[in-house]
Amino acid sequence: MSHKPLPGFRDFFPEQFAERAHLFDTWRRIVRRYAFQEYDGPPLEPLELYTQKSGDEIVTQLYNFVDKGDRPVALRPEMTPTLARMVGARAQALRKPVRWFSIPQLFRYERTQKGRLREHYQLNVDIVGEADVLADAELLSVAIEIMSALGLTDQDVRARVSDRRLLNGLLEHLMIPEASWPAVYGVLDKLERQPRDVSAGKLAEAGLEAATQDVVLGFGTVDFATLRARYAEAPAVKPHLDRFAEYLGHLDALGVGSWIRFDLTIVRGLAYYTGIVFELFDRIGEFRAICGGGRYDTLLRSLGGTDQPALGFGMGDVVLGELLRARGLMPSSGSVVQFWVAQAPGPANAPAAALQTATALRHTGAVVEHALRPMKLDKQLEAGRKAGAAAFVIVDPSATDAPWRVRRSGHDDQMFATLDALCAWASPLTGSAS
Ligand code: HAM
Repeated sequence: MSHKPLPGFRDFFPEQFAERAHLFDTWRRIVRRYAFQEYDGPPLEPLELYTQKSGDEIVTQLYNFVDKGDRPVALRPEMTPTLARMVGARAQALRKPVRWFSIPQLFRYERTQKGRLREHYQLNVDIVGEADVLADAELLSVAIEIMSALGLTDQDVRARVSDRRLLNGLLEHLMIPEASWPAVYGVLDKLERQPRDVSAGKLAEAGLEAATQDVVLGFGTVDFATLRARYAEAPAVKPHLDRFAEYLGHLDALGVGSWIRFDLTIVRGLAYYTGIVFELFDRIGEFRAICGGGRYDTLLRSLGGTDQPALGFGMGDVVLGELLRARGLMPSSGSVVQFWVAQAPGPANAPAAALQTATALRHTGAVVEHALRPMKLDKQLEAGRKAGAAAFVIVDPSATDAPWRVRRSGHDDQMFATLDALCAWASPLTGSAS
């Protein structure tokens, strides 16, 4: 038997688990500040939940099989269809807007590479029931606040934002037939990574004339002010420009304007997005997308049976972890043992006094360890040092005046006559009592 997990799957040894916990704790702490509530769904879903709407790419990556009851099923590759299904089940009863978040483990049979595994955890934050652009701004500000809380700044991370309605309006204004839009989307999506002549060739294949090709290729670098000035009079474009300007204004007011860059090449791979879309990247361009999301106003109608506007994002743990480690922002796990309780040699060498002490200290909220078999005192202390204990409590029932002696490195010894006195002293050091 190999000791390795399957390709693209991870073992979480305590050091890695501590990193994961750091991300999850930060995610939960920030998202709850915005009044989002946590939910979860099943990791296994009916296959058709994904084949209907997620788009071809994700469907080719499914872990799917037929279960013993002959049902075609799939491990969830993303959370959004489950959310749509669950909101649909309670559509009438839920207070709108629904503000929900979840941290599912997701499974995609991808080619494993840097930033891409076959399982990952993904924070999903979604709002259902609000069509106003203020909801889009609030959503993106959540993702950016998470970056800040993890120690990243607007010099490290950039949110690239676009709007599918605006892009569609531009393509309409340029009189590009709707049948060619998917091809144009594909070219824009790859514009950064693909030589210009290859992109131009693909646009020509899609039937675009040379002048129109140039305009589309220019979308890769155009800033919002220029675009707004250029298309101010175009009826197919103007309302979308105005809405987008309002969105940018809200982002400024929310205090995250400096993180944002307008970028028409952000198209998003998933098929269901209908409005503002965004992705977060490190500014150097060293890593893949940290986070992606946007508005999907028609998905609930098709999957949830309820006609509700919706928007959300997914933020994976893999790329974010790589970025934090590269920037020295991932805290190391270190030792968590606050007290090592040792038993001084006594006539009976019974551990009862040490065990009672450990229990009493644990009730104060302290992290406590002790030897699990009889050992000489020096061996117990050595084991405590190896565990990285911050302090030692030596219990000596024969020392009737002060049976509890505490040693903390860098501090003078503390002696206690009662267990209550020891616990009262320890409480402020250990935080909350349970
Ligand atoms: P997505 O762009 O497919 O969107 O994934 C969102 C994020 O999850 C990516 O930016 C990336 O950080 C991470 N991710 C995706 N696939 C992998 C992988 N194979 N390995 C490691 N990390 C990965 C969605 O899934 C949408 N359902 C998000 C959403 C929620 N839209 C609305 N609400």
